[in-house]
Amino acid sequence: MRFVAIMKCLHSFMAFPYTTVSVSFLIRKYSTKTELRQVPKRYLGQPSPFTHPHLLKAGEVTPGLTQEEYALRRYKLMSLIQREFNALGGGTDHAVLFFSNPTVYMTNDIPFPFHQHNDLLYMCGFMEPDSILLLQNKPGLTLPSHTATLYVQKRDATRELWDGPQSGTDGAVALTGVDEALPIEEFKLVLPRMHDEGVTVWLDTTGPAHTSLHSRFLKPLMESITQGKKSVRPTQHLVQKLRLIKSSAEIELMKKASHISSYAFIQTMHSSKAPVDEAFIYAKFEFECRSRGANILAYPPVVAGGNRANTLHYIKNNQIIKPGEMVLLDGGCEASCYVSDITRTWPVNGRFSAAQQELYEAVLEIQKSCLGLCFPGTSLDSIYHHMLSLMSKKLKDLKIVQKGSQILKDTRRYCPHHVGHYLGMDVHDTPDISRSIPLQSGMIITIEPGIYIHDDDIAAPEKFRGLGVRIEDDVVITEQSPIILSAQCPKEIYDIQQVCGM
Ligand code: GLY
Ligand code: MN
Ligand code: MN
Repeated sequence: MRFVAIMKCLHSFMAFPYTTVSVSFLIRKYSTKTELRQVPKRYLGQPSPFTHPHLLKAGEVTPGLTQEEYALRRYKLMSLIQREFNALGGGTDHAVLFFSNPTVYMTNDIPFPFHQHNDLLYMCGFMEPDSILLLQNKPGLTLPSHTATLYVQKRDATRELWDGPQSGTDGAVALTGVDEALPIEEFKLVLPRMHDEGVTVWLDTTGPAHTSLHSRFLKPLMESITQGKKSVRPTQHLVQKLRLIKSSAEIELMKKASHISSYAFIQTMHSSKAPVDEAFIYAKFEFECRSRGANILAYPPVVAGGNRANTLHYIKNNQIIKPGEMVLLDGGCEASCYVSDITRTWPVNGRFSAAQQELYEAVLEIQKSCLGLCFPGTSLDSIYHHMLSLMSKKLKDLKIVQKGSQILKDTRRYCPHHVGHYLGMDVHDTPDISRSIPLQSGMIITIEPGIYIHDDDIAAPEKFRGLGVRIEDDVVITEQSPIILSAQCPKEIYDIQQVCGM
């Protein structure tokens, strides 16, 4: 069993272009740990195979993701660091830091549900606040060999009384499979080493994820950086490179998130009978996602009836949708740390009017044509340019824009957003990765063209004014045909009318 799991991980590792480490070395490295540490037989700060056997198998840190997979992620990161560092030159010792998110409070003493910082989560699967992951090559270890240490909150009876069980150091180390876990207070003991000239410190330089941990521990280090005594190297682009290409286990989790959302769309379409409050559709969609196993919605959904569909980030979701109007629902859930992002537009009385159908069919044809370009070697930008040129033609055919030199500008006015983005643990995943790079097998993207015609747009034919249509699917790039993760979510006119009319 264990060997099969390792081989699965290695398979995804072999597709990884940044290192030349031999596979046999990795088998030795990851197969020497023959026994898993037993997770404590008590509740931890997150689901464990002992407390939530319906969610996790033995050896999994988070549902569907094993200790080996997390260890390989760390190994890949250290390989990238080694590679980048060799190119730049310098010392041989490295300390790589990941900070958790803090608990955020809605109001005095009332916390929002905690969500872990996705980079720390990606690197070790630990889900508690006020924690730090440190990867370092201790003396005698040459990169990418390293040790992984989690600094976590010590168990505290008062905190456990109010907030529930904590993992503690024994729970954290057994669940995640890092080399050691220590109380967060002990992080200060490693700080002197980080000031050494020979040690290069790597962290997310976009800003402190956790301001109080940062100022408690890293202030002196940051001061020596600003005084030019020390330099720090950024990690965010390296982690994003890793997060961009999904392993087979990650693709399975993305499938699960998309399937849950797709079924939630079907149920929501079916029960939206005009007149209907946007708030009802919002609540119904969230209920259907969560009751199918989603943890939360991945982002505040857009539930926009009628002309409100033309406000791209409309999230007030508090207006009545009248008979004869369409609703645009852009929603997706997060399940087991991975998200979906789907948009459908449908008529709330179950039948498209002639003008709605004309516009909808135009967007659907553009969307399908863009899906046909989701192959390795193309890029999001090249699909976007294809979308613009096809949309220009459609807008001309529908007499929404006139021929002429302004055509591209006009088209951008009717679709002010890109054709899509990378998708993964975040809805706008790996945001620093350019959309001009060639798509590769294992990337997941959205394809989401839309045409938005405001009700005061006197240039457009009257019948189209106040209509906004977007169709968004989630797509895995493979060497063969792309996998449309949201394929079960109806988008053909006939299917939508069937579901809505039932
Ligand atoms: N839901 C945000 C987006 O589609 O990009
Ligand atoms: Mn999207
Ligand atoms: Mn969306």
